[in-house]
Amino acid sequence: MPDTSRAAAWSLLCEFTKTLALRRHALGVEASMRALARQAGVTDAAEVERWGLVGLLHDFDYEKFPTEQDHVWRGMEILRERGWPEELVLAIGAHALYTGIPRDTPMKKAILAADELTGFVSAAALIRPTRKVADLPPESVLKRMKDKTFARAVDRAIMKQGADEVGLPMLELAALVIAAQLPIAARLGLDGGPGEELPDAPVPAPSP
Ligand SMILES: [Fe+2]
Ligand SMILES: [Fe+2]
Repeated sequence: MPDTSRAAAWSLLCEFTKTLALRRHALGVEASMRALARQAGVTDAAEVERWGLVGLLHDFDYEKFPTEQDHVWRGMEILRERGWPEELVLAIGAHALYTGIPRDTPMKKAILAADELTGFVSAAALIRPTRKVADLPPESVLKRMKDKTFARAVDRAIMKQGADEVGLPMLELAALVIAAQLPIAARLGLDGGPGEELPDAPVPAPSP
């Protein structure tokens, strides 16, 4: 039986991803996915964890394989080789629109909604005077979205599509993502301080 635990996912992420920023992104998107699972009515703890793992692993191959030709495709191959369930592999593939993998399950829709917005929320938090996500109102996220010069690499259309597909108004989705980051803000470097290092061990606890 392949090990598909959260600890195994963390170890796979760390094997391929050495930069702190990308490890933080993985944990931030995991937190958003767990919140989106609950929002979608998932109550089973193991299922909430599976949604989280899609977030934790969605970019695990990106540092090594950043081009559209490779990113996610290589990751999906590696996941399959190592026995990760196909449901998770496809959901991870679905976060990149160019794969054309249909987002035909709530989990696949959620990863699209979680990914870009989680990155955007963290960028928006870091320009608050306190550099705390706790001090970021969801309204300010929407304002930043309209500011074309802010975080211009983040595609607004994809964020909107994500919100549409999960059926949440952008303000509500932004509030959900912000709330999901709060319990792990120190780990994400979003609590005003330098933030925690994220070594290979110990495995950081998930957002509740
Ligand atoms: Fe990606
Ligand atoms: Fe991502």
